[in-house]
Amino acid sequence: MPGPARGKPTGVKPQAAGVLRRNDLESWTKPGPSLYPHQWSWDSAFIALGLAHLDNRRAARELETLFASQWATGKVPHIVFNPDAPPQSYFPDEERWSSAALSKDAPSSPHTSGLCQPPIHAIAVLRIWQTARGKDERRIELARSFLRDSYPRLLAWHLYLTTARDPEGSGLVTVYHPWESGTDNSPRWDATLEGIEVGELPPYTRHDLKHVSDPSHRPSDEEYDLYLWLLELLKEARYDEATIYESHPFLVKDVLFSAILVAANEALLEIAEAVGAPDDERTLIEGWVERGRESLDERWDPELRLCLDYDLRAGESVRVRTVAGFAPLIAGGLGEERLADLLGTLDSLSFCGNPRLRWPVPPSTSPEEPGFHPRSYWRGPTWPVANWLLWWALVRVGKPERAEGLRQASLEQLASGGFAEYFEPFTGEPLGSPDQSWTAAVALDFLAAGSG
Ligand code: SER
Repeated sequence: MPGPARGKPTGVKPQAAGVLRRNDLESWTKPGPSLYPHQWSWDSAFIALGLAHLDNRRAARELETLFASQWATGKVPHIVFNPDAPPQSYFPDEERWSSAALSKDAPSSPHTSGLCQPPIHAIAVLRIWQTARGKDERRIELARSFLRDSYPRLLAWHLYLTTARDPEGSGLVTVYHPWESGTDNSPRWDATLEGIEVGELPPYTRHDLKHVSDPSHRPSDEEYDLYLWLLELLKEARYDEATIYESHPFLVKDVLFSAILVAANEALLEIAEAVGAPDDERTLIEGWVERGRESLDERWDPELRLCLDYDLRAGESVRVRTVAGFAPLIAGGLGEERLADLLGTLDSLSFCGNPRLRWPVPPSTSPEEPGFHPRSYWRGPTWPVANWLLWWALVRVGKPERAEGLRQASLEQLASGGFAEYFEPFTGEPLGSPDQSWTAAVALDFLAAGSG
């Protein structure tokens, strides 16, 4: 298949590689040059997926570094703190999290946060394996050994998510904080957060605003107070899952997180087969895939033609149109009707069919939602990683032409706006952190798909 026909794709690959090189700290990669000075979990997984096309060993090391900080419970922390980060560069810092002091399950060196993020990791591990195949014997052997080492860690991670984060056995993952969703200030969380009263909060100073050109790109101060308050409550529970489940005011079944887990379980199944894992483990993983898909189907809203999160405390669905609603596409295994509905919503005025869009890529929140904001983080901007997820999903559900359109549009966006963290959907203005590693990483994966 020829490379992208429009935009300036020829320059994209070396530029993307340059971003990853500049953010590289040898065994892991900063998500962005200054806004994110530590290792983030799902950023690293996407980064590994992109690095797999440049340097297979380095890609493996990215995930080995992250998994070295896996908690005893199997949880992969959402941040692994960099002891060499400049002082006062990021908040909340390791001291504020106090994970190791509060929980015997947390590693003490390096320090970590107490939350987790969507499990892209098995998908990245599989990509590392896929890109090694067809190379020389030594490289294949190294990748095979990485696969063998990764399998039990991934299994423990997914086991944690399907048990501690789903004590109901519902097939859906419960998140404790908007940060766990990876879509921090999405209107998906507005109703739940509205019901939470911020108590006595230890004072703090935000550092994130120093690293962006305009504070409107980032979540508001009111949102930060809530984020920090939820963090205090998790600390009060000493990050203990059972205590959190009893007392925490933010318990939401996150459909996007859950769908990524389904896709990651499919990847894990392939890994299990490649390493010759026992039959009972494969059966367990198959069960997770099946249950996950069934439960997403139960979260379908026929009117909005999207899948909805569920607030466990309120006992109700969260009726907001965001990119997370395409979760069933990511989980796959869809019937014709559901697939047609999802594609219809994707093409509708609520998403990619909106005539005001600079590129036909999905805004993180539908411009038709009252909570939409075109410049504010996950309230409206388009995110290249979200484009990647939907592109990859469309390939997997057997819609290669639709997938190709999204890939081309995403590459045009990157060729024109650089490797920004996110983009204003109507003007195409790059927003947030420039030179964002995962944006460069998905560009590399897009380009590799185009080169056949
Ligand atoms: N995404 C959050 C931040 O911006 C935390 O993970 O800091």
